[in-house]
Amino acid sequence: MNKQLKKAIKYYDKFAKVYDLFSPKWYYGNARKYAIQQMALKEGSTVLNVPCGTGQNLEYFQKNMNNTGLIISIDLSEGMLEKAKEVVNKNDWKNVHIVKEDATKVNTTWLATQYDNTLRADAILCDLGLSGFPDWEKVIDNLYELLAPKGRLVIMDWYLPKPTLRGKPIKWIGKGEVDRPIYQYLQSKTNDFSVDTSFNRGGVFVATGIKS
Ligand SMILES: C[S@@+](CC[C@H](N)C(=O)[O-])C[C@H]1O[C@@H](n2cnc3c(N)ncnc32)[C@H](O)[C@@H]1O
Repeated sequence: MNKQLKKAIKYYDKFAKVYDLFSPKWYYGNARKYAIQQMALKEGSTVLNVPCGTGQNLEYFQKNMNNTGLIISIDLSEGMLEKAKEVVNKNDWKNVHIVKEDATKVNTTWLATQYDNTLRADAILCDLGLSGFPDWEKVIDNLYELLAPKGRLVIMDWYLPKPTLRGKPIKWIGKGEVDRPIYQYLQSKTNDFSVDTSFNRGGVFVATGIKS
């Protein structure tokens, strides 16, 4: 792990205790609900969530999948994963795997080692991660490769292309960049693409790429 990533994860390990207070469900509520709707989840779906953070998406996944299928929730911060595990244990959910891994290493080889080489995701949600990950284009490439045919990669993140006062606290709290052309990169990978840039007063987008 490089120094910068180590620093970010150490920060999230501590921040985990208060993450849900500083980033409460209502703040990204509309974007999150739309993102999950875009995943088109069904009973029995296989879902990946990278990074899963404290597990704020889990209740929505479960509701849409009627507590069936497989949910693989990945993050690199033990502190954040502990919070996600608390949610899983409290609800006694058996179909959720909480996995500690670096998002940049989640690829077909990784999935084959952890599960089997035929497993592919019906939907992947990458929420508030790519603005902070190193090598973010490669992460998009890898996640896209993990989709089943017609599978959906849904990305929710910040995009503030011009420096503004608003971007500063977001960068500081999230330890990421707010001006990465993330959805534009996803768009370049697929013909079946849509984006809604209207969330959080135009600062947050939800983009969907469907694998052909
Ligand atoms: C802003 S939080 C978003 C969490 C969650 N997706 C949400 O919307 O609440 C960013 C998360 O990315 C995780 N993270 C940062 N770098 C990572 C990496 N290289 N691999 C996996 N997770 C990482 C942090 O631990 C943190 O939980």
